[in-house]
Amino acid sequence: MSKAKKTQVGVLISGRGSNMQALIEAAKAPDYPAEIALVISNRPKAKGIEFAKENNIPVQIIDHKSFETRDEFDKALNEALAKANIELLCNAGFKRLLGKEFVEKWRNKQLNIHPSLLPAFKGLNTHERALDTDVKIAGCTVHFVRFEMDEGPIVAQAAVPVLQGDTPETLGDRVLKAEHQIYPEALRKVASGEVKIAGERLVETSNQSEQEPLFSPPLEKNQAETP
Ligand code: GRF
Repeated sequence: MSKAKKTQVGVLISGRGSNMQALIEAAKAPDYPAEIALVISNRPKAKGIEFAKENNIPVQIIDHKSFETRDEFDKALNEALAKANIELLCNAGFKRLLGKEFVEKWRNKQLNIHPSLLPAFKGLNTHERALDTDVKIAGCTVHFVRFEMDEGPIVAQAAVPVLQGDTPETLGDRVLKAEHQIYPEALRKVASGEVKIAGERLVETSNQSEQEPLFSPPLEKNQAETP
């Protein structure tokens, strides 16, 4: 039996690379529809580089500081991606803004993970802002990339209850664990064609079952049992 061709994925990182790690681990499953074929870091000292190398994933360092303009950097990225026959991109803690042309070229072929329930808390310091705003549910989002920062059709989200006494670090740690679960799942859905974009919306081709709402703070036991 011939093996189905796996979608060739490039992962863009700038630092720790724990989401990249989650994608690499998930892609080890024989039936996972995507292969992590290239990791690109714009920072030569990004911690994630080591893990990718240990897992025999080709790594390329394209240091943004060696380019005069954003366009030149984007061009170098595109060349590396073309050379490796990359079909789909996953930004995983990638800290560079990409130019309009690059983003358009990868339209509906580039995912990003953001540590908030978008459209809330776009940008930086999401956990700090979530705590300042006193929201009761935080979370994370995987979305297709658009030129406007943290915009684009949403593929998956995870809701994480905020706990009394949370600091940006404690909340961030729990959200990160959820990130590591939703990113591989979102990539699986996109790479397998289980989700598609129609207009600016996501269409699921598989059936979804009803789920319990998440209450934060949790309901009192007797309230939770009320039909
Ligand atoms: C994650 O919280 C991700 O949501 C955000 O940057 C962080 C990257 O962490 N975009 P890592 O490099 O994947 O560990």
